[in-house]
Amino acid sequence: MYLLCTITASLISFLFLKWLKRRRFCMDVKRLDGKTVLITGGNSGIGKETATAMAIRGARVIIACRDMEKAEKAVREIKATSHNLNVFHMHLDLANMRSIRDFCKTFLQREKRLDILINNAGMPSVLDWTDDSFSMCFGVNHLGHFLLTNLLLGRLKECAPSRVITLTCSAYKYQKLDFQDLNYNLFPFFTYCRSKLANIYFTQELARMMEGKGVTAYSVHPGYVQSNWTCHYSILFRIVMQVIMFMFFVSCEAGAQTVIHCAVADEVTAHSGGYFVDCQCASLRPFAKDAGVARKLWEASERMVKLA
Ligand SMILES: NC(=O)c1ccc[n+]([C@@H]2O[C@H](COP(=O)([O-])OP(=O)(O)OC[C@H]3O[C@@H](n4cnc5c(N)ncnc54)[C@H](OP(=O)(O)O)[C@@H]3O)[C@@H](O)[C@H]2O)c1
Repeated sequence: MYLLCTITASLISFLFLKWLKRRRFCMDVKRLDGKTVLITGGNSGIGKETATAMAIRGARVIIACRDMEKAEKAVREIKATSHNLNVFHMHLDLANMRSIRDFCKTFLQREKRLDILINNAGMPSVLDWTDDSFSMCFGVNHLGHFLLTNLLLGRLKECAPSRVITLTCSAYKYQKLDFQDLNYNLFPFFTYCRSKLANIYFTQELARMMEGKGVTAYSVHPGYVQSNWTCHYSILFRIVMQVIMFMFFVSCEAGAQTVIHCAVADEVTAHSGGYFVDCQCASLRPFAKDAGVARKLWEASERMVKLA
């Protein structure tokens, strides 16, 4: 009797976890031959999985990474899995504005096309500072990608129709932006939430500015994913998280699906500026749809990265 109860409870738990981790997969098999896709942080986790999917579809793929050894290894693996030799890596450190400017200069000299830009790289909840004294989360997740996208916008327009996809997180809803202190760096999780809210406003304002110019923009929550983000924490935290992630988080392959969907599906272009979850456009909390705040953040970001 005891054994039967244990087996039944285990089975129910297993089915419940499977249900909890269910995810839509991108069913669009469109080829991307002749297109160039740039993915930040494509050496790891969701970014690497996305890069592989883009390469399988025939795109020229460039992963922009801060660690050249990891990047070279990832390129070898992506080539082997996709059977596409048109995969390259370039150096980019989003925590350093000089590195972003140098990267864009080299990219624009070397590459004639840019059809899909995937702003994937991200720092989880950490309290640190970038080389330019921005809070690490806000600096890398928002400001770094803000500068990168702006410097590449001309090429995206030349190659229109083109797309910009930015990874955000559903945790955006736990914080609001404080314009008196955009560089907020007090509670690690809150700095992360604010940077991910900034990704949403950035996408909305970019979509508004590019209306009629052939460049569309999407923000994506990939779900909670078993990637390598725990590498920034202590060994104890990592061990605990491995167990939690195994039980509740989805694979990187599943986590990449909404990004892939936004990169290839035709129907998403009707929702430029939209927030996507599980391969569909999702609703946002009202405060995250405030066009005035999005514009204000854009202008503040321009000043911070010295574009204005
Ligand atoms: N995993 C989740 O549950 C989850 C949930 C919601 C949103 N997201 C978002 O999904 C995106 C991908 O994250 P992931 O889960 O795949 O994590 P990951 O495996 O840790 O990948 C993050 C990538 O970003 C790169 N990166 C970090 N700082 C960088 C910098 N200064 N310059 C250039 N690259 C940098 C990392 O490079 P290194 O390998 O050199 O560190 C790595 O390639 C992130 O934007 C994250 O916020 C993830």
